[in-house]
Amino acid sequence: MAFDIDMIKGVYASMGERVDKARELVGKPLTLAEKILYSHLWDGTPTTKFTRGKDYVDFAPDRIACQDATAQMALLQFMQAGKDKVAVPTTVHCDHLIQAKQGAAVDLKHANETSKEVFDFLGSVSNKYGIGFWEPGAGIIHQVVLENYAFPGGMMIGTDSHTVNAGGLGMVAIGVGGADAVDVMAGMAWELKFPKLIGVKLTGKLSGWTAPKDVILKVAEILTVKGGTGAIVEYFGPGATSMSCTGKGTICNMGAEIGATTSTFGYDESMERYLRATDRADVADAANAVKEHLTADPEVYANPELYFDQVIEINLTELMPLLNGPFTPDLATEVGTMTEKAQANDWPLAVEWGLIGSCTNSSYEDLSRASSIAQQALDKKLKTKAEFGINPGSEQVRYTTERDGILEIFEKLDAKIFTNACGPCIGQWGRYEDPKNAPKNSIVHSFNRNFAKRADGNPNTHAFVASPEMTAAIAIAGRLDFNPLTDKLINEDGEEVMLDEPTGWELPPKGFEVKENGYVDPLEDGSGVNVIVAPDSERLQLLEPFVPITPASLQGMKLLIKAFGKCTTDHISMAGPWLRYRGHLDNIANNTLIGAVNAFNQKTNFVKNQLTGEYGGVPDTQREYKKAGIKTIVVGDHNYGEGSSREHAAMQPRHLGVAAVLVKSFARIHETNLKKQGMLALTFANESDYDLIQEDDTFNFLDIDQFAPDKPLTIEVVHGDGSKDTVIANHSYNNAQIAWFNEGSALNLIKKQNA
Ligand code: F3S
Repeated sequence: MAFDIDMIKGVYASMGERVDKARELVGKPLTLAEKILYSHLWDGTPTTKFTRGKDYVDFAPDRIACQDATAQMALLQFMQAGKDKVAVPTTVHCDHLIQAKQGAAVDLKHANETSKEVFDFLGSVSNKYGIGFWEPGAGIIHQVVLENYAFPGGMMIGTDSHTVNAGGLGMVAIGVGGADAVDVMAGMAWELKFPKLIGVKLTGKLSGWTAPKDVILKVAEILTVKGGTGAIVEYFGPGATSMSCTGKGTICNMGAEIGATTSTFGYDESMERYLRATDRADVADAANAVKEHLTADPEVYANPELYFDQVIEINLTELMPLLNGPFTPDLATEVGTMTEKAQANDWPLAVEWGLIGSCTNSSYEDLSRASSIAQQALDKKLKTKAEFGINPGSEQVRYTTERDGILEIFEKLDAKIFTNACGPCIGQWGRYEDPKNAPKNSIVHSFNRNFAKRADGNPNTHAFVASPEMTAAIAIAGRLDFNPLTDKLINEDGEEVMLDEPTGWELPPKGFEVKENGYVDPLEDGSGVNVIVAPDSERLQLLEPFVPITPASLQGMKLLIKAFGKCTTDHISMAGPWLRYRGHLDNIANNTLIGAVNAFNQKTNFVKNQLTGEYGGVPDTQREYKKAGIKTIVVGDHNYGEGSSREHAAMQPRHLGVAAVLVKSFARIHETNLKKQGMLALTFANESDYDLIQEDDTFNFLDIDQFAPDKPLTIEVVHGDGSKDTVIANHSYNNAQIAWFNEGSALNLIKKQNA
């Protein structure tokens, strides 16, 4: 089952009534984003007008997609929910765990050996619980979703921040943490703060060297990496309809780089063409029948400032190709002005690699336009100066581009065709033996992120983000400041030549083709499937249900760490080399809070063990407390747990025996994650009480037996010298969340309700 047309028709069948009701409640014409949000309310037909940026709303997404790195813990948790099948159509995509080094054939084989147990686990869980499984090499999650599952007017969530890519096909598609995905898989609602809305009006038309990528590179420059936070970005105008569907996907994809909740485009002919080309004529027909609901009301685009919280206008005719970077995706430089800027900033001008791919730019159109530049290098006898690496977005794209001779053009330039997977985009690039000591250099790629070390682990690599066609041109020239609009190159015969503007196909003229797309349909009845996790595996570990935290255990608690300043989910559960253990709670718990700064000595991973008086690492110290049967508390500063929605940051402390986290303020998603794992997430009623906490403190929860909504908790803090303070702790638990605490976790409660 590639997609579920009945589900899509069901969404469309109720959309008209829900949109009409929402329009009545809101009292004015609706944007596309509002139409999709209001037609996906958990309670069905809208009855309330929501305030943007304020109200938390329960939604019912149509689909879920998970990638292999995040799916491990999500599915391990789902297995705890006691369900036979996922409640919402779900797919798992194996794309992150494949290193790019020698080329697809060798690299894929290597990944299938080194990550076999993870892939086998994901495959068997998928088979058991009715989840569609995309094997390693089948493609990058977001390209595969666009080709197979995305549909105009739909809502999906995915355990990857670039889930937003599906906005290219008119969805509201949002990246979430594994815990949120598990809730929806288990049949629960998904909560989101009703977003603010940013409108981007695109006038004019792209031409010449300018590509959809340049639109989002420009938007990133305007809004910066934080400018989209808490907002849905809606693109419209003649410039929007003139772009291809996959080009729209590129723009939505990099909405993640401006912090946007998601981005989307109204349904148009480019989407219809893409749906029909990808074998979904029935979805296109169904969408055509409800067209008016799949784009904003006409008044909105006529007077956008009346309906959006912010409006930006970009004239595509005037837009120039951009190179964004290094180290941040919002630092834009127009080609043609790079020389001075690079010299002023000491950016290496020689470019060593040009990489084309990632979920952002790996469509047929992307490869076809970039290949038109590569072909010119062959025709005009130009020797490529930088190396080329290509990651096709899916097996369908790879097969079709191979059939059409596109990959061959790159191969003639000695390009490495890597696996249809993330590869260098997520640091899975075997470029160096010792990246930490690798030399300063520049690379250009068509990916979305270019933070230090992101691609190759080398802190000295200056990565610049550009369109695939500009990446190709710069790789051929081997210079960062090459401007193909004006600059000449010298060919093998010593002649001066110029590169002509790129050309290409939006969609393959002979249609898409694929032999083995790498999709495995789950069994109709998976009850007999055995999910195998080796007991001695270091990468996977079946979860045990968390035991409820009892009032008695909240007496005589010890302080584990008083974190000073910023404490993000990365400080609580680091990424990097620890990615390997994302499916093994006990092993990954060895990184718990190792990035947090101890307020008493300003050191990381160096806390006092009150039982011995000695100092040691946070996880080791915590394991000592656990062995002694003593619960602990973590104290923190403002916005504790900001960053990602990574549920590991809550599960790890819980697993090790931390019972409560008491801070000045929380990042909301982390606060919810702590609640879901059956812990106490508390805030100081008086922020200054943070200063009362000392290194040798013992904590007694005096009234935990009266834990109730809106009733603060009283904590007695006994200091090392025997003196005492009383701290009042606020909380935001409602009755349902208190039930999670009482049962040990939200999943325990779901399981109990299913029993
Ligand atoms: Fe993969 Fe990079 Fe996209 S890691 S999902 S290709 S952002």
